[in-house]
Amino acid sequence: MTPADARPMKVVVLLGGPGSGKGTQAPIIAKHLGVPHVATGDLFRAAVRDGSPVGLEARHYMERGQLVPDDITIAMLLDRLSADDAADGVLLDGFPRNRAQAEALDVALAERGAAVASTLDIEVPAEELVRRLSSRWVCSEAGHVYNALTNPPREAGRCDLDGSELIQREDDQPETVRARMALTLSSLADVAEHYRTLGVLRAVDGQQSIDQVTQDLLAELAIGDAPAG
Ligand code: AP5
Ligand code: MG
Repeated sequence: MTPADARPMKVVVLLGGPGSGKGTQAPIIAKHLGVPHVATGDLFRAAVRDGSPVGLEARHYMERGQLVPDDITIAMLLDRLSADDAADGVLLDGFPRNRAQAEALDVALAERGAAVASTLDIEVPAEELVRRLSSRWVCSEAGHVYNALTNPPREAGRCDLDGSELIQREDDQPETVRARMALTLSSLADVAEHYRTLGVLRAVDGQQSIDQVTQDLLAELAIGDAPAG
């Protein structure tokens, strides 16, 4: 249990299908909230790069577009939540992905006297998701996100922010994208329903410009046009 004088944890969940824009929006929203951006996909990709036991296990599922089993995913996420920089809260991207993960998060937060404050669902139709993923490029250094059609870098093949080489994710091959869509969209609907029942679900139209989606997300969090810190 959290000590009585501890600051409350601010936990916000970004929900949305593969390619809906979670990774594009999360760094901006996290900066406004003053909490770290925690993405289970990024944690798994780092584990794969490191060749750790979690990475070796996760790779098998990720390259097939399948969810990594809950026991591995939940343990990794809870470990990340216990880091010092998450003491005041986190912006979650890509977790929870199914009802079991949502319930495990509720229990872990309740033990700290906290709960999910808001869940923001970025809504984009499936056919648009497939189009976006086939033209996505990410930076090799930090995973900053670009799109050849809708959000190109200033210099071809280079990240605007850190100059690193842009690469395509292994799981953005058309077959893997189709598998991810088929496997993830229905369990995401369960997660949305879970948070709707708790009264913390807000939907944002993800088919607008990236800037407009940012403004709508900040408005739902009642942050408005507050300058980034
Ligand atoms: P993860 O990395 O989380 O992948 P995902 O959910 O499939 O989501 P993406 O990262 O593909 O999309 P995004 O919403 O971040 O979109 P982005 O901003 O990049 O997970 C990868 C894998 O790890 C999973 O398949 C699974 O195996 C495993 N995993 C992760 N979490 C797990 C969990 N909780 N449980 C079990 N397994 C887990 O944008 C996409 C493109 O669109 C970009 O090119 C971008 O520039 C463009 N774009 C963004 N916004 C707009 C806009 N408004 N208009 C036009 N284009 C836009
Ligand atoms: Mg992402």
